[in-house]
Amino acid sequence: MTDSSDNNTAPSTSQMWGGRFQAGPSAVMEAINASIDVDQRMAEEDIAGSLAHAAMLGATGIISSEDAAAIRNGLEQVREEARAGKIAWSAALEDVHMNVEARLKEIIGEPAGRLHTARSRNDQVATDFRLWLRAACDRIDAALAAYQSALVEQAERHADQVMPGFTHLQTAQPVSLGHHLLSYVEVAARDRGRFADARKRLNESPLGCAALAGTAFPIDREMTAETLGFDRPMQNSLDGVAARDFALEVLSAAAICAVNLSRFAEEIVLWCTRRFGFAQLSDAWSTGSSIMPQKRNPDAAELVRAKPGRIIGSLVGLLTVVKGLPLAYSKDLQEDKAPVFQAIDDLELAIAAMTGMASDMSFNPRALEAAAGEAYSDATDLADWVVRELGKPFRDAHHIAGSIVKAAETAGVPLAQLPLADMQNIDPAIDERVFSVLSARASMNSRTSLGGTSPVRVREQVAAWKRRLAAAQVSGV
Ligand code: ARG
Repeated sequence: MTDSSDNNTAPSTSQMWGGRFQAGPSAVMEAINASIDVDQRMAEEDIAGSLAHAAMLGATGIISSEDAAAIRNGLEQVREEARAGKIAWSAALEDVHMNVEARLKEIIGEPAGRLHTARSRNDQVATDFRLWLRAACDRIDAALAAYQSALVEQAERHADQVMPGFTHLQTAQPVSLGHHLLSYVEVAARDRGRFADARKRLNESPLGCAALAGTAFPIDREMTAETLGFDRPMQNSLDGVAARDFALEVLSAAAICAVNLSRFAEEIVLWCTRRFGFAQLSDAWSTGSSIMPQKRNPDAAELVRAKPGRIIGSLVGLLTVVKGLPLAYSKDLQEDKAPVFQAIDDLELAIAAMTGMASDMSFNPRALEAAAGEAYSDATDLADWVVRELGKPFRDAHHIAGSIVKAAETAGVPLAQLPLADMQNIDPAIDERVFSVLSARASMNSRTSLGGTSPVRVREQVAAWKRRLAAAQVSGV
């Protein structure tokens, strides 16, 4: 194990905080301490935070306006370099904050050392992370809106398409394919609502909380909060540097969203099997097998089905890091970013894949209609007819319909093909008119209750969603 103090010519953070230290960190100390591999993704946010802080230091007279201007120009150059991928991030400089400051010092010299007045990396990292997550919430919101639009378009195309609705994965009652797809539009709206809600709560500025106790310098926290687009400064400096519930909330929203996506992903997998035969994905969304030449696998759907494993893992991981941490900042909190970045990357990919598949999927009307009429899916319609036309209580009607299903099963025919006489054996009051309700399509068309599956209702919902998506409104917010 080498001691990096042997090699202290390259800039390292111990030069920045090491006034009381005689030796530099051991190699393993440096390795466990450095977060630059992960937090360099916050360079843009870190520089934005520093620009706001420097402008405030200048405006309040805490540093001279010349120094503030030099820092601003220097930071703008660092930003250009970071955007162009030209910064040589250094583990010896620990994290993005120290790397940015060190590069600033190379560019502008002495004034760079004034940037950290009235600030700590503790409020700096909390600020950066909130800014990063705010942008992530906005990207996810836009991605979910695109996913909703893809679903609404398919729903419009297939408002009249009958398919089997399932409970317990057993054929239950016929539904409209458009209705089925719109159910996922509703889910995505609630997901958007959860991200919007988390965003609202996280959009407060910790900048100026400093290490933990605030600062004796006459800073203007309102000013930095406003510059950075935060709604207000956080009111307690200890909370400002220690809180990570904002990240936990976004991860919770991400985990729920991933689980929701996985449910539709599973249906895509099922629908694309030969057994179901309801739908297929084009070549763009299918993969082959290296041994079985006939295979077409819906790998993307399977991977979306799997993503909750990682995303829930991130949530549980961060909950575990934060659990039991005393106030205020502890280095444990540095372990917050990797799980969040990974979860957000995974989720963005999953949403994009679901959007692609939702638009790409084509459906097999005949298979859907045939399956919709199977397995006595119109038995409830028969029971309802007995209630409506014969005035029986539903419980009795249920019993009568059950007996008729049994008779049809024995005869090996669907309800619509069972002779009227056989039905009248069970209840003599049944007449010809019963056949009008005995088809999958009639069943679907009849369910016109609010939120029901009738194409009339589905088209209303398509129109309503188109209006809401065009107006960029999110349900539930
Ligand atoms: N890299 C650190 C993090 O991500 C920044 C804060 C370090 N603070 C400290 N007191 N050493 O949490």
